Amino acid sequence: MKPHRIAVIPGDGIGQEVMPEGLRVLEAAAQRFELPLQFDHFDWACAAYWQRTGQMLPDDWFATLSGYDAIYFGAVGWPAVVPDHVSLWGSLLKFRREFDQYVNLRPVRLFDGVPCPLVDRDGRPRKPGDIDFFVVRENTEGEYTHLGGRLFEGTEREIVIQESVFSRHGTDRVMKFAFELAQSRPRKHLTVATKSNGIAISMPWWDERADAMAQGYPEVTVDKQHIDILSARFVLQPTRFDVVVASNLFGDILSDLGPACTGTIGLAPSANLNPQRHFPSLFEPVHGSAPDIFGRAIANPVAMIWSGALMLDFLGGAIGADTARHLQAHDAIVAAIERVLVTGPRTPDLGGHASTTVMGRAIAEQVAAGAP
Ligand code: NAD
Ligand code: IPM
Ligand code: MN
Repeated sequence: MKPHRIAVIPGDGIGQEVMPEGLRVLEAAAQRFELPLQFDHFDWACAAYWQRTGQMLPDDWFATLSGYDAIYFGAVGWPAVVPDHVSLWGSLLKFRREFDQYVNLRPVRLFDGVPCPLVDRDGRPRKPGDIDFFVVRENTEGEYTHLGGRLFEGTEREIVIQESVFSRHGTDRVMKFAFELAQSRPRKHLTVATKSNGIAISMPWWDERADAMAQGYPEVTVDKQHIDILSARFVLQPTRFDVVVASNLFGDILSDLGPACTGTIGLAPSANLNPQRHFPSLFEPVHGSAPDIFGRAIANPVAMIWSGALMLDFLGGAIGADTARHLQAHDAIVAAIERVLVTGPRTPDLGGHASTTVMGRAIAEQVAAGAP
């Protein structure tokens, strides 16, 4: 089998602490399932590359990364050194856009052994199975743009305009992905995040595109919800959700809120997909570089590790890959995460006292030992 070439970018802050654990687990899975993974490391972040060069990336980054099958990414951002909009538009957001990673797939799941902050109507804690859905976030347009500007800067009349962009092509393709995903799941239910009561141009149109796509998926039940009440229902009625499709900004917010409802954002993975594989896809935790805990070895490595499992699943879909073996490797990693969340060791965000490395090693050992 041709090796999968993976570009590894640990990035800043806890990205550097969780990445070794992600790689440890991937190596254990690669060994057990005989998967040919080849890793090359890049120090493109505020921490190293910026300090040497004053840029987030070298000029030839596109050509360099285009030669890879996937990008395994920690987190970027160190606002004390580089303003966030500069560092993020200089790396992660550039990758998403220029590699046309138009789907940001973010699973949200309550695991056994993880204390859940939510209770049901009768005051009973939520159980695993009550929260188990996907956020499908549009990842290349919407509210994330550079269109607009400042007028009368510094005066009392100052005006700031920030445009949103919704293309038919961009909206339909993410809707299609979400409908396909919903169709493939037992409940076949899709929630469309909207705000067509207040955002009077883009959002009524977004709803129309959802209605148009729904014609092709008669088995999928569709529920449009305004983002405000949808957020409230993530907390109050999380069992309602199966697949949720959202614009770039709404999806960003929902994909921190969802994992917070499952105990900690330290568990939440994501897959930034170019489903047609014209460009490398990127796999990363939902969380950021967490400067507040960096250097204390307490970051939860699960989001990074689970993102690695999503990467193997995606790589297994490539032409010529042994799909079954990749899927087994994915399942073994998720099973190892499930096991360790029950038995420990656990990092402090999960109520434990273990370090990042201790938890990462425990998961890697489970993978090697043959869980489940
Ligand atoms: P953050 O996700 O880095 O941290 C939010 C809170 O969650 C912090 O209290 C942090 O300690 C905690 N947390 C995050 N990950 C954790 C983990 N694995 N284990 C335990 N606790 C964890 O968000 P922020 O503070 O808004 O952003 C910090 C920096 O990261 C900024 O520069 C921001 O722009 C950047 N950022 C980058 C990405 C990315 O690269 N994908 C994502 C989000 C934020
Ligand atoms: C995420 C992050 C990024 C986003 C930031 C760091 C630009 O919050 O991946 O969720 O808003 O997409
Ligand atoms: Mn986010």
